[in-house]
Amino acid sequence: MNNNSTDYGNWGPQNLCYILLGLIIIISSLSIIPMLLILKIILWILNGFLILRLLYYFFLFRSIARNKGELQDKIWNLMLQKLSWNGKGKVLDIGTGNGYLAIQLAKTNPNTEAWGIDIWSKLWKYSLKTCEKNARIEGVMDRTKFQKASALNLPFNDGEFDAIVSNIVFHEILFVRDKSILFKEALRVLKKGGVFSIQDMIKNEKINPIKEKILELGVEEVNYFNTLKEIKLPSLARVEMKNLGIIFGRK
Ligand SMILES: C[S@@+](CC[C@H](N)C(=O)[O-])C[C@H]1O[C@@H](n2cnc3c(N)ncnc32)[C@H](O)[C@@H]1O
Repeated sequence: MNNNSTDYGNWGPQNLCYILLGLIIIISSLSIIPMLLILKIILWILNGFLILRLLYYFFLFRSIARNKGELQDKIWNLMLQKLSWNGKGKVLDIGTGNGYLAIQLAKTNPNTEAWGIDIWSKLWKYSLKTCEKNARIEGVMDRTKFQKASALNLPFNDGEFDAIVSNIVFHEILFVRDKSILFKEALRVLKKGGVFSIQDMIKNEKINPIKEKILELGVEEVNYFNTLKEIKLPSLARVEMKNLGIIFGRK
């Protein structure tokens, strides 16, 4: 990457591909050691599964990167369109990756202070350093702040933000099966009257229960939009992202 060009990354978990490749090499080496045939068969099956997974992520990564990441741009912009905000005050991007949403919101709203938090999981090539570098290149370093933190426990006071965004993050938190817990934590730090737009893979049968739980928090308005109605995904991306949609509204 050129030192003066931004890098907003790729939703395909590139580092996970290296981990899978390492495991495949280890298992292949183990399977040439003399052992019971049944153990060999188990190793071959496991390796076959890992190889398929690796190929899937590799081609997913390539299909997302096509046309200079045009697909990511479309999906990000669609969720920003659903954020009905006057651009005044503070916005938080939960699971910011390389900071795209926080930086865009700071760029398009000169009166905004934009925050991005992430745990910067090692599965992707995202980092705090790249967020800060992108903000510097985009000329919004003075109005963007990035911090390591988890969506499960946001290090902010109740009602601290005027707007909340998050893109393709909540489904990654595998051990939290009830995703309404993550919506609750996000909405805790949102002011009364503040707006939110949260995009993720949400199964059809989970949409209404999540909306109901959000309304129980005293939120004024909550809507759902099926992203795939507007954006055609390449077939590989559709496997993983077929339930992509946006939960948005006003607290
Ligand atoms: C598919 S990436 C999306 C990144 C970014 N939102 C974007 O649109 O480019 C998922 C992100 O979720 C982050 N993530 C995973 N678990 C998290 C958690 N518990 N709290 C905050 N971020 C998390 C990962 O580190 C990664 O940056």
